[in-house]
Amino acid sequence: MRILSRPQKGGLRGRIGVPGDKSISHRAVMLAAIAEGRSEIAGFLPAEDTLRTAAAFRALGVPIRRLREDGLAIEGVGLRGLLAPFAPLDCGNSGTAMRLLAGLLAGQPFASTLVGDASLSRRPMRRIIEPLSRMGASIQASDGEHPPLRIDAARKPLGAIRYSLPVASAQLKSCLLLAGLYAEGETRIREPHPTRDHTERMLAAAGWPVHEEDGELVLRGPCPRLEALQVAVPGDFSSAAFPLVAALLVEGSQVELVDVGLNPRRLGLLRVLEAMGARITIERERLCAGEPVGDLRIESAKLRGIQIPPEWVSDMIDEFPILFVAAAAAEGETVVRGAGELRVKESDRIAVMVRGLRILGIEAEELSDGAIIRGGRLRGGVVESAGDHRCAMAFAVAGLVAEEEVVVLDCENVATSFPGFVARMQALGATMQAG
Ligand code: S3P
Repeated sequence: MRILSRPQKGGLRGRIGVPGDKSISHRAVMLAAIAEGRSEIAGFLPAEDTLRTAAAFRALGVPIRRLREDGLAIEGVGLRGLLAPFAPLDCGNSGTAMRLLAGLLAGQPFASTLVGDASLSRRPMRRIIEPLSRMGASIQASDGEHPPLRIDAARKPLGAIRYSLPVASAQLKSCLLLAGLYAEGETRIREPHPTRDHTERMLAAAGWPVHEEDGELVLRGPCPRLEALQVAVPGDFSSAAFPLVAALLVEGSQVELVDVGLNPRRLGLLRVLEAMGARITIERERLCAGEPVGDLRIESAKLRGIQIPPEWVSDMIDEFPILFVAAAAAEGETVVRGAGELRVKESDRIAVMVRGLRILGIEAEELSDGAIIRGGRLRGGVVESAGDHRCAMAFAVAGLVAEEEVVVLDCENVATSFPGFVARMQALGATMQAG
């Protein structure tokens, strides 16, 4: 699938919602599956990544039914009620599915295997294997690093560990918290920078809160039971980021994005865009099933390049592809450092974005842990998304403000996080089409 974007005449206008939050949808399925009794998840993201997680739990013996269009009803089997799967569990493109599932499966009395697509099979897993092994789990990976992961049956209960994360990663943190539910003693985790805390918020809602003590997260184990959940999944800020930046860049735009998740650990992009000169108003802010939610009102603005403080990086880790596009359309230079993790996402996002922006006539330079982008005039052209959903959507937005049309190749994976992306952009009047 390709996306074709043509230079936009006239502003983007309208009020839209975006699909449910991917991180929260994965976690809701996982925790509901091991809770006691029936949970309901409203606003579940029906995308390829999150449907993989639901399919994995069905294969582990958990009854899961679709409710209406975007709801799930899950009959939790309890912490010790999962069944051995008959076949490998396929996580598709999803790092979150694989890393969190590995934590949860490490303490089970049966063996399991986790596999993924070509992109996921290149992503680093030593970061989870190492601490899970210290907890007593036995996990085999190809060259000790890459999927498939073979998780042996736990012969005895896991033991809790105290662990300083070598990278700021919510997936790694959540993997260890899920393993910690089955471990004896206190699992204590220190993060180099705080990361999204959806797992912690949801564990609290299920009656088994994580505490903070001297800068460490503390989870007591083994957990006796989790209570069933009623989750209302907010719109995904990481998906909202695409129409948001499009509205900023296309002159004359006025756009409202409604019911978007506003977890503070996800909002680094807002801080950066405001420092670049954007004004984004938050309205109707409220708490919804333990997560902050609100509406965003955006008008187009002239942006200036900035140096992004490295300590802001983990709060916007998924938003760099679209930030790079905002930087390309801004005046002056934007410098990103301390973002080496971008090289091990669904693609090497530094390389893919710099390569694509250069094709579009922008001066951009790769750094080992970031990039320097000099704002300028975007030309048209044909760019490669490298099968990465967020790079694909970022280049599609670039096409709206380029001088000539932009064709983005290899866009199937947009469906892993944002099904209906092109249709929702079209609802705002965007001159974009899929084909
Ligand atoms: C996620 C955490 C982030 C993010 C990913 C989703 C999560 O990864 O990039 O899209 O749901 O925990 P890392 O925690 O590995 O940085």
